[in-house]
Amino acid sequence: EWTMAEFRATKIAEIRAQVGDQRVLCGLSGGVDSAVAAVLIHEAIGEQLTCVFVDHGLLRMNEREQVERLFRDHYNIPLVVVDAEERFMSGLAGLTDPEKKRKFIGAEFINVFEEEAKKIGGADFLAQGTLYPDVIESVSFTGGPSVTIKSHHNVGGLPERMNMKLVEPLRELFKDEVRLLGKELGLPDIFVGRHPFPGPGLAIRIPGEVSKDRCDILRKADAVYLEEIRNAGLYDAIWQAFAVLLPVKTVGVMGDGRTYDHVCALRAVTSTDGMTADIYPFDASFLSRCATRIINEVQGINRVVYDYTSKPPGTIEWE
Ligand code: XMP
Repeated sequence: EWTMAEFRATKIAEIRAQVGDQRVLCGLSGGVDSAVAAVLIHEAIGEQLTCVFVDHGLLRMNEREQVERLFRDHYNIPLVVVDAEERFMSGLAGLTDPEKKRKFIGAEFINVFEEEAKKIGGADFLAQGTLYPDVIESVSFTGGPSVTIKSHHNVGGLPERMNMKLVEPLRELFKDEVRLLGKELGLPDIFVGRHPFPGPGLAIRIPGEVSKDRCDILRKADAVYLEEIRNAGLYDAIWQAFAVLLPVKTVGVMGDGRTYDHVCALRAVTSTDGMTADIYPFDASFLSRCATRIINEVQGINRVVYDYTSKPPGTIEWE
């Protein structure tokens, strides 16, 4: 039996031995895993670490600001933030196939990351917040042998292209252990407890074509939904909760006028590792409160539905 304090000390020694006096780049996603990896590595090698955060325009409400505040202001970790929204939006225009969207985002992410890495003079190592389930899921999947359900987004391909070696200090850990390690490292509870967020971001929560307008609508609906979940004290009981913006418009009535706007689906699941999941059984009154608020407060949405699909047969994300 080991404790998180021991794990922390062991990993810090390992990172120092592996990296020596060389430089490390870490791509932050806004999620818990890359943040914990970055803080751990920073503790081991300090200023030899530079973090890069690519804002692809597919982030949740205020996510970029939160990351900037935490890393630059709180931890004093060198952080490069890349504003790449326009690049991603123009590349996503016209793409509707889920795998094409995923592949474009993964490839463009690597392009942007590589450009930034060159600007700051490169590095010998690339740090990743890879977890144990990521290691397994890339080998096998519950869907059966050699079936790709979804191509996973990470910075795979980059290490070879840039001739970088990998630092992956979380490879043995499960999500709940990463959260414990994050706490051990002093990351704020509100950050450590955040729900997982996929690399391709909001793009896979907007079936069909993605645009900045659609992302803006989805961000607002998602923020209202999460605020209601936090207010109800349910956030920590849920593995992941998020809104999905459907490319379907339906007719509604508001005041004495006709509306013709998007449908928003709400998703909430419980899970221990994301491999299987059950829907979260909200009270009907909670869901109708969310629906009312979203329709009243978010222009572009006039209907809200709740997703009752477990995994399997569904996946957690819609694409
Ligand atoms: P699915 O939708 O496959 O998702 O049931 C399982 C878990 O993985 C997350 N997810 C991703 N995470 N890159 C990531 O880092 C991805 O491309 C990606 N796709 C899905 C999803 O949010 C859920 O937690």
